[in-house]
Amino acid sequence: MCGIVGYIGKHEAVPLLLSGLARLEYRGYDSAGIAVQNGCGLEIRKLAGRVDALRLVTQATPLHGCCGIAHTRWATHGAPTERNAHPHVDCTGRFALVHNGIIENADVLRVALQRAGHRFTTETDTETLAHLIEDAPGEVLEERVAAALAQVEGTYGLVAMSAAEPGKLVAARRGSPVLLGIGDDELFVASDASAVLEHTRSVVYLDDGDLAVLTPEGYTVRDAEAHVQLRTVNALAWDLEAIELGGHAHFMLKEICEQAETVKSTLRGRLLFDEGAARLSGLNLPPSACAEVRRICLLGCGTSWHAGLVGRHLLEELAGVPVHVEYASEYRYRPQPPDPGVVAIAISQSGETADTLEAMRAARRAGHRVLGIVNVVGSTIAREADGGVYLHAGPEIGVASTKAFTSQIVALALLGLYLGRHREGGLSLPRGQELVWALAGLPELVRRVLAQAAQVEALARELAAARNVLYLGRGVNFPVALEGALKLKEISYIHAEGYPAAEMKHGPIALIDADMPVVFVAPRDAVFPKVVSNMQEVKARGGRITAITTDGNGRSDLTGLVDHQLQVPATHPLLSPVLTVLPLQLLAYHIAVLRGCDVDRPRNLAKSVTVE
Ligand code: AGP
Repeated sequence: MCGIVGYIGKHEAVPLLLSGLARLEYRGYDSAGIAVQNGCGLEIRKLAGRVDALRLVTQATPLHGCCGIAHTRWATHGAPTERNAHPHVDCTGRFALVHNGIIENADVLRVALQRAGHRFTTETDTETLAHLIEDAPGEVLEERVAAALAQVEGTYGLVAMSAAEPGKLVAARRGSPVLLGIGDDELFVASDASAVLEHTRSVVYLDDGDLAVLTPEGYTVRDAEAHVQLRTVNALAWDLEAIELGGHAHFMLKEICEQAETVKSTLRGRLLFDEGAARLSGLNLPPSACAEVRRICLLGCGTSWHAGLVGRHLLEELAGVPVHVEYASEYRYRPQPPDPGVVAIAISQSGETADTLEAMRAARRAGHRVLGIVNVVGSTIAREADGGVYLHAGPEIGVASTKAFTSQIVALALLGLYLGRHREGGLSLPRGQELVWALAGLPELVRRVLAQAAQVEALARELAAARNVLYLGRGVNFPVALEGALKLKEISYIHAEGYPAAEMKHGPIALIDADMPVVFVAPRDAVFPKVVSNMQEVKARGGRITAITTDGNGRSDLTGLVDHQLQVPATHPLLSPVLTVLPLQLLAYHIAVLRGCDVDRPRNLAKSVTVE
């Protein structure tokens, strides 16, 4: 899941390409490169490392030209070295391209091309495309690119250019996101909108099979059948501030601190107080269809899968519909029995995660209605779903997902409310109103929890040297334990596991000793007494306990049992995960900072996983 950028216009391309690339660096950051048409041919600079380092190289050895392409990489094929960095060229150096995706038949194509005399200089799958373009029939670049792509299996979002055709870029998409930024007398190509927002709010999303030709005169888009397509020009809703740090040390901290606002934004215009229900205008599931829903299948990866696990409790309790939660990567390869009564819901912050997208497509092939709960407007999952719920949480730049998780839970609660109130024998008016008021009160409660950040920072100092951490929770808070562990793993590189608290006795309790910090997610709900017994089991083996609990009758009853206690306000039991997760996000953040980790660019990760 790399980031690609292209520019053609009247300005020097390099500074525009580099600023766009810097905005996309959360997509992959192990190597970077740039190429421009300088009137005599193509000039390329690339290195293993970050966009900032590439900026220094272009300052030391400047490139000039008003048409260029650039790339920031998350390595899939070939180590993250300068040689394997993009752009890649053919034998003659006449064609250059940048690519996001995986060429699945690259090995076969490489052997055939080598037999035909092509010399390969890298280990990447992408270089194959450059040689295919070199080999392809066609007078003009777009013909060559189309002919080359006809031989390719796999996914791509790419931009190509030729030394022989100055002032032309050719972009193509299958499986990986590509959009065009439409400026005044200038055009951009990018993997997502954050790269062009500084210059324009007008974007065109390419569909699978599209091929676009960009020249100073304008752009044309042809579909897979080479028919010219007039794609919609969309206006971006975000403002630049949304993708700036805004005085915070890291995007992750900024996004954690934004959650009172983002939860409010997910709720905006969707609560019906008198009806004790929810309005979800983009869902495309009319009240009459709610009764036909026999089963719900929630699909997601990582944090979105954890939100799905919370969603199961919400949808089963509020709407009375059986819910399955599936790892999208597993679901997509399991035969799905056709069943029109199933609603499959793809949960994805980016809306571009390949496994979730393919799982959604598999669900559609099984005749299921497919909906999306997505944050990024105009993303592929959002555009392919029959309907859905946008989170409206604003751009999430930090690789570790935070505000999207709380907004996903709120969106699932709204969906439970909507379904429950539209199903025979579903949610009663009083229960519906109880949840509506609890949802309306959430932003203020989130603000109160975030105001305790200093307490969490102090606790982080206690735990920063840990080598392992166990997170335990029950019921609707078991997924929060999983999420707490994931946050710590992905940004501090401490090994951590989330477990249902009662599962401990069946094995993991063997890990407990004085060196094993254990974090309990233990709001005072119906299972709290059971969780207290689990705490006693851990304490009896010398474990060091931190409890995230709800305030109520003071701290007294856990004194002597737990070493540290963080309290969050009480709310509707089904909504407690929105609050209990906040101290865990902050804990992971502060521990990672104390360990000197690159919080926004954790090693080996990328923000949206657009490859399988
Ligand atoms: C979470 O912090 C990670 N970035 C990752 O697990 C993420 O949740 C997963 O890749 C799913 O992404 P999505 O929500 O954009 O589909």
